[in-house]
Amino acid sequence: MAPNPDRVLIFDTTLRDGEQSPGCSMTQPEKLRVARALAELGVDIIEAGFPAASRGDWDAVNAVAREVSGPIICGLARCAREDIELAAKALREAPRHRIHVFLATSAIHRQYKLNMAQDEIIRRAVESVKMARDLCEDVEFSPEDASRTELDFLAQVVEAVIDAGASTVNIPDTVGYTVPDEFGELFRYLRKNVRNIDKARLSVHCHDDLGMAVANSLTAVVAGARQIECTINGIGERAGNCSLEEVVMALKTRAQFFNLSTGVTTNRLYPTSRLVASITGQPIPRNKAVIGENAFAHEAGIHQHGMLKHHSTYEIMRPEDVGLSRSSLVLGKHSGRHAFRERVRELGFELDDLELNRVFEEFKALADRKKELFDGDIEALVLRAAGSAHGPWSLQTLDIAARSGTQATATVKLQHADGRVVERQADGDGPVDATYKAIEQATGIAVTVRKFEVHAVTIGEDAQGEAVVYAEFGGRSYRGASISTNIIEASGKALLEVINRIELSQKSPRAGAERRTDPQPVIRGN
Ligand code: KIV
Ligand code: ZN
Repeated sequence: MAPNPDRVLIFDTTLRDGEQSPGCSMTQPEKLRVARALAELGVDIIEAGFPAASRGDWDAVNAVAREVSGPIICGLARCAREDIELAAKALREAPRHRIHVFLATSAIHRQYKLNMAQDEIIRRAVESVKMARDLCEDVEFSPEDASRTELDFLAQVVEAVIDAGASTVNIPDTVGYTVPDEFGELFRYLRKNVRNIDKARLSVHCHDDLGMAVANSLTAVVAGARQIECTINGIGERAGNCSLEEVVMALKTRAQFFNLSTGVTTNRLYPTSRLVASITGQPIPRNKAVIGENAFAHEAGIHQHGMLKHHSTYEIMRPEDVGLSRSSLVLGKHSGRHAFRERVRELGFELDDLELNRVFEEFKALADRKKELFDGDIEALVLRAAGSAHGPWSLQTLDIAARSGTQATATVKLQHADGRVVERQADGDGPVDATYKAIEQATGIAVTVRKFEVHAVTIGEDAQGEAVVYAEFGGRSYRGASISTNIIEASGKALLEVINRIELSQKSPRAGAERRTDPQPVIRGN
């Protein structure tokens, strides 16, 4: 069947280009949760990782290939036999899989990074695409830093890799340098000057260094690209990648202009975005297009007046289209399990009975402490309950004595899964410091805290606070997060999550750790 020219494929690289940016690393179970959410969202291709980067990356790509059905599962490889073979092996259990090979082509990269001449680049790219084709039907090639490559050389590379068997050729703006008109011209040039261009799908991959990743991707699509590489919430190297939710909603909202479609179920955008934000601990800015908290809020009187007359006066998309529910004030302490389940569903989450019971108990406890419960409270409970590392340590009680101008004292009582109950008291420079010292003494695990953040989950004076802590232990990085109306308790539980991940990873080396902080065995791509 001939491909539909109006369909743009969505290639999600949240788990590869997104995950490799600082602070966004995920554990294998987290990657699987994100991959399942992406499949439900309806993306066409999931780039699950870079199998040669580390054993953990290989395992994660392999797990996604085995367990996630629907999209094509892709793995990145440099133009090197070992990388390509590792990718093929990691992917082979996925019914549809793709190897994505890349090699830099720009003069700057050729001279300073690769020390290779133009003809060597073409030879290596062709050999590698052929090698990948021997192991996999579906091969994509990316000339890294394409937007800064001489046009005639880029055209030669593209023609050669298509002849070698690449069925997708991706044009990356690796350093986020191009501007829409120029990038559109580049695509038109390739379509005009590459003899076999109609034998491959053209793809676009943009970074956001100058804030133009979405605009550049859309221009490429207008100029003939039919695959967009993007990430949820735009996470990625440096300033990030093209944001999936923005590019998809631009194509949908301006369908009459673009006359193109995607396979994305757009009302899954918001829950998927929240899931990625919660797992990576990277909060979404309030004013972020499409999925930010303020994206559909109308504050000015004149706007509110217009909205009451007709929503189209000030709204170009409906919140429901991206999966955002209109009601913000929801359940209270008298709400039953059934109403709670319905609300959780409306927010886009499916929980099994066990998970629902656990979250419902937490919801009831929260409803006793908090006057009003907002969607954000429920989302936070669901995301935390599903994502946190459970046990072995749990917090039984936390007492704080703090007066301005003096040291604070914290007393913690912790329970371990093996039955131990440990109580410790410590002084510190403020209540969080005292709590951290007491927890470290009780568990016997002292970490180095690199970053600590607290932010409000919803609004109001009794809003819940989310505490996120990034810490290092034994050369590895860990992240823990927790929410509570009491931010000292949230801070303590976030540290306890880190400690639980450390204990879990000591039992099974890859279960809880995020990424080694010492150098990787191979260089990661951009
Ligand atoms: O930005 C880039 O060039 C990349 C390639 C590996 C596609 O991420
Ligand atoms: Zn990239």
